[in-house]
Parts: sequence; structure tokens; C-alpha cells
Amino acid sequence: MPAVARKSDEIGVPRMEATGQLIMVFSFYRDAELRGARLLLNLHNHLRDGDSQAKLTRHLADETRHAMLWTHRIAELGAAPAVIADGYQRRLGARIGVPKDTLELLALTLVAEGRAIDRYQSHAAMGGVDRATLEVLKAVSADEPWHLSWIERKMNELADERGERERAGQVLARYREIEKDVYASFLAEEAALATG
Ligand SMILES: [Fe+2]
Ligand SMILES: [Fe+2]
Repeated sequence: MPAVARKSDEIGVPRMEATGQLIMVFSFYRDAELRGARLLLNLHNHLRDGDSQAKLTRHLADETRHAMLWTHRIAELGAAPAVIADGYQRRLGARIGVPKDTLELLALTLVAEGRAIDRYQSHAAMGGVDRATLEVLKAVSADEPWHLSWIERKMNELADERGERERAGQVLARYREIEKDVYASFLAEEAALATG
């Protein structure tokens, strides 16, 4: 579920009618962060060099912290995180299939990271976002450009080493196309909910 503009009051607590929807949006973000963390845990088994290990662990710590920030925000609204059965990564994974090597895992991470930046920036740019949520959006967004840049660099490096630059480009193009489609399905569902 993508970001949704919500009216809020002065002290950073959304109005009652919006709270349920906000909890779902934040739970959706939290789920995407946790599933992103799982991809990074997988990558720890693939990229064995010291530099990659250090970056992966820092990256993993960021994503789990992001999940915690959303968990806190949900708690501030008096709720517990909702279980997201058919969330972003899950739907994306179902369409893409199991990545069959390091290059594909990196490509999957890259498209998901790109969406994370875009999603958080769009949410922050909407009118009526309460102050506490804006703070979380700012905190999580601050880490995302580094995630995107090091994963992209690593993927290019690996593709060059293996002489698979062309394949890397093809995998990325295919994943980006599928990802757009998957994200559009959430937007369509959200629009249907809003009007329905
Ligand atoms: Fe994140
Ligand atoms: Fe990230």
C-alpha cells in the first residue's frame, strides 16, 4: 500500500478516522523493511569479501532500525503492527521468482531500494502529513541513497568481473518492469479502497 495523504492535528496525532489507514500504511512500510532485511541476510552468504560483509551488516542494521521506527510510530498511534500477508516484497518475489545468483539478488535489492526512496519522498511531499510521521520519513530517507549507491556499484563490479554486464542490464530492466507493474497493483487497490 503506497503512501496516503492524511489530515493531522497540531500535535502530531492524526485524526481518528485516518488512524486505521495510517496503521496499515506504516505496517506496509515496516513489512517492506523487514523483507528487505531478509534479502540482505541472504546476501551475506553470497558476497563473502570483507568490504561487502561490513557494508551488508551496516545496511542490514539500517533496515531493521527503519522497521523499528515504523513499529514505534504505530505504537504511538496506540496500535500493534498489522500482519501484511501480501506486501510489496512478497508480491514482487512471487512475480520475479527466486533469484538464482548473486547478480539477481543484487538486482532485486536495487529495484526495491529505488522504490523505497521514491515511496518515502512522495509520502513526505504530500500535504497534511503529521510532524511525527515526517520525522520518521526523514530519518529513513536519509539512509536510502547510500543503500542504492553501494548496491548498484557492487552489482556493476560483479557484472564486470564475470563479463556479465549485458546480462546485468537485462535482469535489471526485466525486474524494473515487473516492479512497476507490482507497485501499480497496490496503487490500484488503494484507489479502489478510497472510492469504494
Ligand atoms: Fe529502509
Ligand atoms: Fe534501504
